[in-house]
Formats: sequence, structure tokens, C-alpha cells
Amino acid sequence: MRKILIMNAKGGSGKTTVATNLAGYYAMKGASVALADFDPQGSSIDWLRQRRGNLPKIIGLEASEKFPKLSNTVDVMIMDAPSRTHDEQIVSLLSITETCIVPVIPSPMDIRAAQRFFGELRKIRKNVYNEVKIATIANKTRENSREAKNLEDLLYSFKLPSGRKFPFLTLLRQSANYIRAAQRGMSIFEFAPLTTALDREYWKPLTGWLESKKSRP
Ligand SMILES: Nc1ncnc2c1ncn2[C@@H]1O[C@H](COP(=O)(O)OP(=O)(O)O)[C@@H](O)[C@H]1O
Ligand SMILES: [Mg+2]
Repeated sequence: MRKILIMNAKGGSGKTTVATNLAGYYAMKGASVALADFDPQGSSIDWLRQRRGNLPKIIGLEASEKFPKLSNTVDVMIMDAPSRTHDEQIVSLLSITETCIVPVIPSPMDIRAAQRFFGELRKIRKNVYNEVKIATIANKTRENSREAKNLEDLLYSFKLPSGRKFPFLTLLRQSANYIRAAQRGMSIFEFAPLTTALDREYWKPLTGWLESKKSRP
């Protein structure tokens, strides 16, 4: 089973948006998908409740930090982390995944919070990183804006104490398509292709990385 965690201590950075869209992406491709919601606010499960029965099925799991028990028929498990994660909780979430995506939005407060979060990641025992690959993405960006460029430069510069980089994968634009999709329990990949063509283009480096060996320990 493929395990992908979406995590960032800052609320509103797009964890649920990325988790639900990824779940929809894999479901649309015919995979058996589970969406595990570790956030007590339950936004991913809420999203799933809006989802119509004619769309590819996604299994919802209201998860605790214990690894959710699953039938071995699940191909992909997407895990939506809570906000305000710290220390041991970060370690325990990282220990149940093989891949972790960190979305960051280009506002000054989010960038400072991301710097603190990466500070926490750097403090974690080194051996945790042998078992997990972490990458960053920028979210809610305005195309060609200076804020997006600054965030991109910052995310490129994040490193582990070993000098190993967290790959920076892509910028997702701020788009009403994500709001519309969220309302209906859908992913942008399940809308008429023309309306979301540009957004889907920006997802390609992310899904390409996830489908490559580089995203696995
Ligand atoms: N790329 C985007 N474009 C437009 N709205 C977005 C985008 N990403 C997230 N949002 C909106 O921002 C809000 C916070 O996103 P959410 O995914 O819930 O963050 P988190 O789970 O990290 O708290 C939600 O209302 C969501 O619909
Ligand atoms: Mg959320």
C-alpha cells in the first residue's frame, strides 16, 4: 500500500485541500483509496460526506495516531494531518508514512510558521529520515507574483542538518476550482477537463514525483 501524509503545523496551509484532491486523483485513476483524517476537526471526512455516489469511491477513516487498520485491498492511503503538530506527534505521524508533502502558502505569517516547522523537522532523530521522503509545495499562489517567487526560493533552501534537501515540487495556484471541488466532495481531477486544465498542469510535478521512486524511502 502506498502511504502519503500531508502535514504542516500551520492551519489553512492547504493540507485538507491537497489530501482530498490527491485522494480524488488516485480514485479517478482506478486505485482503491483510503483517506485517513487525523485532524479532530474532521474536514476530510466532511468532504467525503459531500461526495456523490456516482464518483469513484474513497474509503474514509477517522484516524487516531495509531496506524489505521485496513484491508489489504487498499492501494493508496492519503493521510490528512492536524494543524498545531509538534515534536512527538510529528515523529509519530512521520513513522507511519513513507512520503510526506508539506504545503506552504505565501503569506508572511505562514512563511514564519513554515520556518519554525522546518526547524522542528531538523531537530528530529536522524534515523526517522531513512524511512520517509519529505517534499514541499507552495499553495494558494498568484502566478508570477513576487510573493510566490520568494516562497519558492525559501522552499528550495530548506535542508536537513545532513545537508540533504527537501525537494520543492510545484506551486499550486489560488483558484476557485478548489473551493468548488471542496463544496461537492470532488477533486479538481473530476471536473470537466477544460475548466481545470491549468490547475492540473501545476499538479503534474507533484503526482509525477509521487509516482516515481524518488518519493519512497
Ligand atoms: N489553492 C487554493 N486555491 C483556493 N483556495 C484554497 C487553495 N488551497 C486551499 N484553499 C482554501 O483555503 C482554506 C484552507 O485550506 P485547507 O485545505 O482547509 O487547509 P488546512 O487543512 O491546512 O487547514 C479552505 O477554505 C480551502 O478551500
Ligand atoms: Mg485541514
